[in-house]
Amino acid sequence: MPAIEVRVPGGSTLMVEGEAVFELLEGEAEVFGINAGPGFKAKVDLYKAAPVYTLKDSLLRIEGGKAWAEEGDTVPQSWRSLAEKIASEKPGKVMVIGPVDVGKSGLVTFLLNRLLASGLRVAVVDADTGQSDIGPPTTIGLGIAERQVVMLGEVPLYDAFFVGLTSPSGLLQRSVAGVALMAEKGLAAGADVVLVDTTGWVYDPGGRDLKLAKAAALQPDLIVAIDPGRSLSHLTRFLSKLYRVEVVEPAVKLRPRSREERREIRRSTYEKYFVGARDVELSFEDVVSGYSFVFSGEPLPREELEAIAGLLGVEVYYGEESGDSLVVFTDTPVPQAGVELLSSVYDKRYVKAFTGPELLHTLVAFGDREKLFRGLGIIKSVDPKDRRLVVYTPVEPSSGMYVQLGYIKVNPSTLEEEGWIERWSL
Ligand SMILES: Nc1ncnc2c1ncn2[C@@H]1O[C@H](COP(=O)(O)OP(=O)(O)OP(=O)(O)O)[C@@H](O)[C@H]1O
Ligand SMILES: [Mg+2]
Repeated sequence: MPAIEVRVPGGSTLMVEGEAVFELLEGEAEVFGINAGPGFKAKVDLYKAAPVYTLKDSLLRIEGGKAWAEEGDTVPQSWRSLAEKIASEKPGKVMVIGPVDVGKSGLVTFLLNRLLASGLRVAVVDADTGQSDIGPPTTIGLGIAERQVVMLGEVPLYDAFFVGLTSPSGLLQRSVAGVALMAEKGLAAGADVVLVDTTGWVYDPGGRDLKLAKAAALQPDLIVAIDPGRSLSHLTRFLSKLYRVEVVEPAVKLRPRSREERREIRRSTYEKYFVGARDVELSFEDVVSGYSFVFSGEPLPREELEAIAGLLGVEVYYGEESGDSLVVFTDTPVPQAGVELLSSVYDKRYVKAFTGPELLHTLVAFGDREKLFRGLGIIKSVDPKDRRLVVYTPVEPSSGMYVQLGYIKVNPSTLEEEGWIERWSL
């Protein structure tokens, strides 16, 4: 990759956008609250930017990506005072809210670096299931910081909660439960301060509800609102009746990211979490999922499968039953009339009939009691006759693990998202 050397006068900010690597060759700078001297080197993720604020005339070497200069410091003074306040008062749970592209994740990175510098143990909960920094997309990740970072994604993943989709829309309860749980785990792991980064979904009714419910479940000791100009008062006026709220300014001069860039960022994040993945075979009986009808029930005995086959006039390879649901895998598709017949004969409200391809490319998660999240997988093939499926995953599945079905399809070769799965359609 071609490298360039740039001289930057003291008192300005060199924005480095990834994918890039930069190194400070001469001078002195500050990067998201990290004091950097000659030899300081860091990686910048795809389409993310790192502000290098020069305290003296400096020389930088940049490899890849893009770079441009801004006048002055892009970290607002209010972020600095906030960091000092948090360092001295040590509120256990800090929730950061704000609209999209105002620097929420940048503020969390800055706070993390400043708090580590004052000797605190810091954890981060990344509640953004779309633009995930900690943990892969579709999860709420918990990271425990071991050292200062330029990119939040460098914070090692400690555990995560699988929401199953990149958007919290329609799945608010999962996001709320996940955030509260991850924050508790962060405190239990010894963090003095848990910083909770949230989505920029704050204006719609769903987003408003989500922020309020997250606060109710989390019981934050401090809420930090990044408000570009009283646009968050619908949340802060109410929340300040219940919690301590600090309002800070947005980061200076951020470049908004396009939908396409956000998608590409997700693809590169999946890539990181599928390193070392290979095909793993699982038998239907070993798959236990909670977000779907399929693989949530009790496998049916052979006589029952034969009875269903008699009713439908097709071969039935596998079946499951639970309180109000019946799931069958057949050799040929079952017409609607057949589904209705099963529904009335078995007195089940939810009847799902599959031949196998319906499940292809579904994103799944593995986890167990010890680690709620062990990793992701993608269903690569389904063989109903042999009652087996192949999952592409870096996880070594064991009998103690669940295999939760998500609501998104991801191509196992390209790691591109292929589309959402209708909720509870599987
Ligand atoms: N103070 C800052 N100075 C310069 N760049 C910043 C600053 N804060 C954040 N950035 C960079 O600007 C970009 C957008 O900021 P960031 O990701 O923090 O926004 P966000 O509010 O979390 O966005 P989203 O709504 O997508 O989660 C990122 O590349 C980030 O690294
Ligand atoms: Mg963010």
